[in-house]
Amino acid sequence: MGEFRFIKGDRTNEDRMKNTKEFFQSTIHFSLGNEELAAGLTLFTSLSNEGLNNKTLELLHPEEIKIGGGYASEVRRRSFFNGRIVGKMAMNQVFPGIPPAACRIITGSIGRPVIEALPQPYGISISHNELWNAGVCFPLSVPMGIDVETITEKNRAIIASILSDHEKDLCSSEGDTLEIIHLLWTAKEAAAKAIGLGFLVPTAWYEIEFIETLRTEPQRIHQCRFKNLSVFTALTVEIPGAMLSIAFPSENNFSQTMISLLQLT
Ligand SMILES: CC(C)(COP(=O)(O)OP(=O)(O)OC[C@H]1O[C@@H](n2cnc3c(N)ncnc32)[C@H](O)[C@@H]1OP(=O)(O)O)[C@@H](O)C(=O)NCCC(=O)NCCS
Repeated sequence: MGEFRFIKGDRTNEDRMKNTKEFFQSTIHFSLGNEELAAGLTLFTSLSNEGLNNKTLELLHPEEIKIGGGYASEVRRRSFFNGRIVGKMAMNQVFPGIPPAACRIITGSIGRPVIEALPQPYGISISHNELWNAGVCFPLSVPMGIDVETITEKNRAIIASILSDHEKDLCSSEGDTLEIIHLLWTAKEAAAKAIGLGFLVPTAWYEIEFIETLRTEPQRIHQCRFKNLSVFTALTVEIPGAMLSIAFPSENNFSQTMISLLQLT
């Protein structure tokens, strides 16, 4: 496998990150050996009912609308639509010529989202919660996973219950802040999605060995290395009210390229 080389990055923010309806998109172009590749990241805060309806009709395939509409739970229905919308927006950054409503994101084996009918082998990773939605579209030759979690005290005990002794020590050395706890959690979930097995395997697979700060300006970006999953790395950044992580292959210093995708200002 060749070296990763950063080619260029674009971002759209339009100052909306400061407002309640927050929206952010970033695209990077890079090469791996002789191949030119791209990755697209979209983030937005959950839409109003009207916004959700409009975006659903604009971006989703009729089959997706049917599946989402079939969920009895309103929470699941909204999260499904938000997740599909953010996935389609991320896809559209890499494939601007493909109408998002023309292709489907289907649920593959073990829950993994699979995007159909793309001209090149690209995948999608999705995360949605009550506040934020995040999606990344990536080449299948460079697998990625994304996770976003609202930073809240009520998650503290749940996250602590799955941390190893070593990870608890990492948290203690950082003052046991809610931020560090969510940083660890989102990095693990992002890795779980990048390998496509989720938490159907022991959580020890995703044990984090160390965390380092790669950037402090304009935003603090942390890098997590996994003890048993050393082929993957996760970058983590705090966004308003939440923590966002993306996991990707750790080879050939790809982190330097991925930082460009995560520079949100
Ligand atoms: C995958 C998992 C880490 C998701 O984390 P979460 O914090 O609950 O939820 P998020 O919003 O961050 O992510 C949900 C998305 O992850 C994706 N996902 C689910 N399983 C996945 C897998 N094995 N690999 C990659 N992505 C996966 C899906 O796109 C899902 O959204 P969708 O169901 O609307 O398509 C977690 O649910 C898990 O490990 N589950 C065990 C596997 C399982 O039960 N799979 C079936 C899920 S329906």
